[in-house]
Amino acid sequence: MDLVQLAERIADIEARAGADLKAVAAIDALRGLESNVLGKQGSLGLLIASVKQFPPDQRGQVGKLLNEGKTRIKGLLDARMAELQTAAHTDNADDAAAFDPTLPGVAAAMGSVHPVTAVQWEVERLFERLGFTVEAGPEMETEYHNFEALNIPATHPARDMQDTFWLTNGMVLRTHTSPVQHRAMKKFGAPLRVIAPGRCFRYETIDASHENTFHQIEGLVIDRDIGLPHLIAMAKTLLAEVMKREVELRVRPGYFPFVEPGIEIDMNCRICGGAGCPTCKQSGWVEILPAGMVHPNVLRAGGIDPEQWSGFAFGLGLTRLAMMKYGIRDIRVLNSGDLRPIVAPARLGGPIVWPE
Ligand code: PHE
Repeated sequence: MDLVQLAERIADIEARAGADLKAVAAIDALRGLESNVLGKQGSLGLLIASVKQFPPDQRGQVGKLLNEGKTRIKGLLDARMAELQTAAHTDNADDAAAFDPTLPGVAAAMGSVHPVTAVQWEVERLFERLGFTVEAGPEMETEYHNFEALNIPATHPARDMQDTFWLTNGMVLRTHTSPVQHRAMKKFGAPLRVIAPGRCFRYETIDASHENTFHQIEGLVIDRDIGLPHLIAMAKTLLAEVMKREVELRVRPGYFPFVEPGIEIDMNCRICGGAGCPTCKQSGWVEILPAGMVHPNVLRAGGIDPEQWSGFAFGLGLTRLAMMKYGIRDIRVLNSGDLRPIVAPARLGGPIVWPE
């Protein structure tokens, strides 16, 4: 190769690079092209490495030709790089102009409080204002706490009233929150004002108004000269407060071994307005608050002298109350994972409507 051929090779490389440049649209591709031409293994790079083939007296000329060629090609590459960078910058500028920082953000989908939890919190706040303590008891109970301490001895027919999940360790899943009555008496003594919300379990056949897992709120007031009128007045206040309106109540005698006398407080069915529907078993009334005056045996078992103190207890059907408050017809949706009828309307503050 002589100097003329070298000059032609350089011109070729330059022309090829110039043509290739036009097809390059991305900065990364341009960098690739640059190394294909100017890199050590690139077309011009290899030519530069061959400078030693020329006789020493020509090397000055060769070096000059190569350097000038390299400078021109580098100039072409740099010019194209500047174009591409300007284009990229302009695209970003367009995006920035289109972005309106004053637009409201997209609301993230959030979970909502379960209706039973919502009512539980409401009832807890109400009773806290009235000076009650909120207690919790274990869901797995001893036979003693669930039955014996509540005046239900092993031989008592009332044990049949509550179909019980017996555990292999001899304990039970509590069938009601009433065992917390005994625990609270032992813990605090008299006088006493306590509520105990919690989950209860019964071996039940499940239908629109029965679940094997449901929630109650136990209430217990022990003081001097406590009577049934206190209980009924409290029930009216409690239900009106949760339902946000006057509630029609019906009081009937009821039997529970741990109270004497025992009563059932029913409220007008909110689903049908009292006309009768499957949720209220066509009666127009819903059993919401079984209650009564604490039996002397229960006070005694709790270490409280029935000659000195009297008290009332109730077992608010929290799950049923949530159904009445939100118009939920079928108890089964509350333990299901189906969020449709519950979350969306609840977030809007309206009644929860279960699609037919
Ligand atoms: N523990 C009773 C039940 O679950 C309800 C109840 C509580 C009744 C307190 C009277 C007093 O059926």
